[in-house]
Amino acid sequence: MNLTFLPAFQAPPYPEYIAALIEGGIKAVETAGRSPEPYLPALKAAGVKVIHKCTSVRHSLKAEKIGCDAISVDGFECGGHPGEDDIPNFILLPRAAEELKVPFVASGGMADGRSLVAALALGADGINMGTRFVATQEAPVHENVKQAIVNATELDTRLVMRQLRNTERVLNNEGVRRLLEIERAKGDQLTINDILDQVAGIYPRVMVDGQVDAGAWSCGMVAGLIHDVPTVGELIDRMMAEAEQIIRGRLARVLN
Ligand SMILES: Cc1cc2nc3c(=O)[nH]c(=O)nc-3n(C[C@H](O)[C@H](O)[C@H](O)COP(=O)(O)O)c2cc1C
Repeated sequence: MNLTFLPAFQAPPYPEYIAALIEGGIKAVETAGRSPEPYLPALKAAGVKVIHKCTSVRHSLKAEKIGCDAISVDGFECGGHPGEDDIPNFILLPRAAEELKVPFVASGGMADGRSLVAALALGADGINMGTRFVATQEAPVHENVKQAIVNATELDTRLVMRQLRNTERVLNNEGVRRLLEIERAKGDQLTINDILDQVAGIYPRVMVDGQVDAGAWSCGMVAGLIHDVPTVGELIDRMMAEAEQIIRGRLARVLN
């Protein structure tokens, strides 16, 4: 389960969410956004493992220090909130490996067996996938969303809300073009109120109603590597087979 502590107009009742997830028997939580520190005692007391998602080495080290069990290291290419440092995973993952003692998974840009093997080579203990899992049969989102991801290339994402230091990587569309025009026109004077129409209440319209041009919704550059909508089982089996083939084939040949 993911618990996202992002700036919100009205903070959700996180302690109630935590009580509910503990009661529901959830064993691992991925926290994201602000520090999970205030909520760690309740989660730890219930034996829930906490994986904090970080977009920088310094935040990863802080998460390790406050007692998180693992880190999800999210590179600049990721869908959603890549932070403000703009460090892609080819640099971020080995830097994390140099510094972290707790295990970490590579997040951002992961799509297939190649990503998995590469992430392991760069020092990660596993991978996390966002955009790839949205384009699966089981994902409870409108078919138009899955097709929009399949149709998109690696050139089709945009970064929005940079001036607000709340950067989000989203799929480009009509709503996003309007949003970026407003951002350009307002410059440093931009406030969240200027772009509410393009960022607030968009998810139900996109994910439930299938209006994929309605406004900003998270999507990673990895869309360029997503060409189909398999079941989760097919995807994982294919990834594992690809990874094994790469290790036993291409990589083994390097040593021969
Ligand atoms: C449609 C969508 C919604 C997302 N919503 C959240 C969220 O609410 N909280 C969060 O921590 N991450 C969210 N993410 C980010 C993912 O958890 C993950 O970090 C990111 O997608 C990894 O990059 P990738 O898309 O390249 O795999 C979202 C991603 C997508 C594509």
